[in-house]
Amino acid sequence: MTAYLITNVSVVGGEPIDLLIRDGVVAAVGDGLAADDATVIDATGLVALPGLVDLHTHLREPGREDAETVESGSRAAALGGYTAVCAMANTSPVADTAGVVEQVWRLGREAGLVDVQPIGAVTVGLAGERLAELGAMADSAAGVRIFSDDGHCVADPRLMRRALEYVKAFDGVIAQHAEEPRLTEGAQMHEGEVSTRLGLTGWPAVAEEAIIARDVLLAEHVGSRLHVCHVSTAGSVEVLRQAKARGVRVTAEVTPHHLLLTDAKAESYDPVFKVNPPLRTAADIAALREALAEGVIDIIATDHAPHAVEDKECEWAYARPGMLGLETALSIALDVFGPRWDLIAERMSRTPARIAGLAGHGLDPAPGVPANLTLVDPAARRLIEPAEMASRSRNTPYARMTLPGRIVATFLRGEPTVLDGKAVK
Ligand code: DOR
Ligand code: ZN
Repeated sequence: MTAYLITNVSVVGGEPIDLLIRDGVVAAVGDGLAADDATVIDATGLVALPGLVDLHTHLREPGREDAETVESGSRAAALGGYTAVCAMANTSPVADTAGVVEQVWRLGREAGLVDVQPIGAVTVGLAGERLAELGAMADSAAGVRIFSDDGHCVADPRLMRRALEYVKAFDGVIAQHAEEPRLTEGAQMHEGEVSTRLGLTGWPAVAEEAIIARDVLLAEHVGSRLHVCHVSTAGSVEVLRQAKARGVRVTAEVTPHHLLLTDAKAESYDPVFKVNPPLRTAADIAALREALAEGVIDIIATDHAPHAVEDKECEWAYARPGMLGLETALSIALDVFGPRWDLIAERMSRTPARIAGLAGHGLDPAPGVPANLTLVDPAARRLIEPAEMASRSRNTPYARMTLPGRIVATFLRGEPTVLDGKAVK
């Protein structure tokens, strides 16, 4: 194993220092370190962060390997500065058995670019009718701790209650896609002034807020852990704020796109901006940013949702919802929050690692800690060119935008997965 001496690096925004990486761990942190056997990386001007952790990634394998594979998605993640991702269960077949979650977990190990932690489905086939084999998935080699029907809401309150009760035994989490299905039938975009003008069926904010309100009450009643996926409205923030003030065991995520883009993007009728939940208003964005800064929303999660060209480059009404996220998330965070490195480390690495129970991730570089980290050049700006992305899909909403920040290197347990901004394998 090669040793690496990273010199003159700002660890999470601190004064420049050296890091020695050897045998998979951070061997030393200090001034003027030397190691004859180490490859030196001059990191002057770069910031080291604990490797980013994504709680919400769609890798599409098994079933839609034309859109993404575990390997291509892992490469996109590494290039985005991630060292661990949680793979959503809405694959084909659905990840609702020990067999499928073990397959995804094994493919992640084989790719070896990030740690791939499978999320298990809550209900069989995501159909919302019967609980999946949560215990068998938890006991499998994949060690599933997060369960989600993401893409679908667990709408039946009785099933949701039973799921929360079931995972309590092993401190598992139910990650809810909060969307009251009767309120969003036929919905194409956020319900508001723009949808009225365009004549598209709206997805009202209350469809999200009503489910979050119900679920925090259920989680409180059961005493179990709830995680709310892709929070998108100001009203949801208020529900979460109250629940947290009461001590409910709830965590929440927001996506980069919900922090930056508004429903006005739909005026282009470009389906790259179609996503579920939909892009909301400037007032929602302001509330989400504030909530993330305060900690009412705990983390940024990408909801990286690759889609093949034929599923995306078609009429708005027929296009699948979802956008790429892994390769641009840190740049969006920098764009929105500026160089608030501690906030970025907290919301994109430490807290998601804690929620997912990923030991060895989300830890700031310190002697003895697994060397899962990323080096960012905050001064760089880059033009987003979809054809140059590592994802097998091209549905980035940031095409031809110039974004701040560039991932220079990523290390997974001391081995580089990205060097000089390029994937190592
Ligand atoms: O936009 C979305 N795309 N939202 C989801 O909940 C699912 C995801 C997907 O799987 O494409
Ligand atoms: Zn979702």
